[in-house]
Amino acid sequence: SGCQSSRFHEDEKQEFKNVFDLEGLSEKVMGKDAIDYLNGGADDSKTVKANVVAYQKIQIRARRLIDVSTISTKVELFGQTYETPIILSPVGFQKFFHQDGEVATAKASVKKQHQMIVSSVSNYSVNEIAAQSQADLWFQLYPTTNREVTKKLLERAEKAGCKVCVLTVDTPVIGNRERGGTTLTKLIYSKELKMGNYEGILTEGTGIDDPGLTWEIISWLRANCDMKIVLKGIVTREDATLALEYGVDGIIVSNHGGRQLESLRSTIECLPEIVEEIKGRIPVLIDGGIRRGTDIFKALAIGANAVCIGRPFCWGLGALGQEGVEIALDILKAELIRDMQLAGTPSIEKITCDFVIGF
Ligand code: FNR
Repeated sequence: SGCQSSRFHEDEKQEFKNVFDLEGLSEKVMGKDAIDYLNGGADDSKTVKANVVAYQKIQIRARRLIDVSTISTKVELFGQTYETPIILSPVGFQKFFHQDGEVATAKASVKKQHQMIVSSVSNYSVNEIAAQSQADLWFQLYPTTNREVTKKLLERAEKAGCKVCVLTVDTPVIGNRERGGTTLTKLIYSKELKMGNYEGILTEGTGIDDPGLTWEIISWLRANCDMKIVLKGIVTREDATLALEYGVDGIIVSNHGGRQLESLRSTIECLPEIVEEIKGRIPVLIDGGIRRGTDIFKALAIGANAVCIGRPFCWGLGALGQEGVEIALDILKAELIRDMQLAGTPSIEKITCDFVIGF
């Protein structure tokens, strides 16, 4: 009965001490294909691991006798105040993890006041997600090989109320996903799990990734939409310089969670040179391997304005649907707050590079 199943969840919930406990339950609940698609990376998954391990090499320099009785996790991005610097990375095909898919994620993000980024390859369309959750969404764009189709995608996102377009620039082609790769191909052509954003607009022969994409896309986007433009997938100072030259509004330091090019550095190792180049002129966000409040603290200390998380909220989604996403967000926020108290930083601005060593 429903009563029994909710009791099961209550018992399990007490077990969720950290996001890895959600990962554990997700592995019991989801099928093998979904687990491989979610947790897999390119080649031997070395960059997936590097993203996580690199945080462990950085140490925190805590300060003492600072009033930490009240903590603010507020941050400002693109002229708007956000309750927390923890944002949900765009993740495609979320119905594969749980039947409620992106709608569950969006409802959790609204309830817990986190920003969500909707993937181009979401199962529910960006309009449906916005309508069902009332979320202010950001839209992640994979420009197609056909600009007319891409334009319709942008129109769809703007109609759904998106004010920020996150342009993913690390996917001219799909990475060598030895684990979960065949599943991804199946997902793209699946009749059951549709890619909602492309319904009725994807024309014959249009590729959903464009290997011909260059910096020219930025002026085209400026001319064809009113959204802020954020580049996702920057990993070098050279491209940070170009991002400034082309006038983008923000960047996300990302290696796609280690799913695209193997042997890239961990994202936290890429961050210093990019922060140095950007010098606070536009927001710099980071994702990849963030599993603990201390990871978030370290990224903010090194100079990120906010962080994004991918797999951790998906483990929650796979395990328990909307409630699981809420638990993942609660855990990470509670960890961040406690870590800020222990380190002596009552607000996000106070978390500076003096608080970390070893990066
Ligand atoms: C992704 N990521 C991703 N990125 C993107 O720009 N568009 C997308 O559709 C997807 N889809 C996707 C699916 C799955 C299953 C994963 C795990 C990741 C990458 C994602 O936005 C983010 O960069 C990483 O997930 C961050 O790393 P962690 O937090 O998963 O370690």
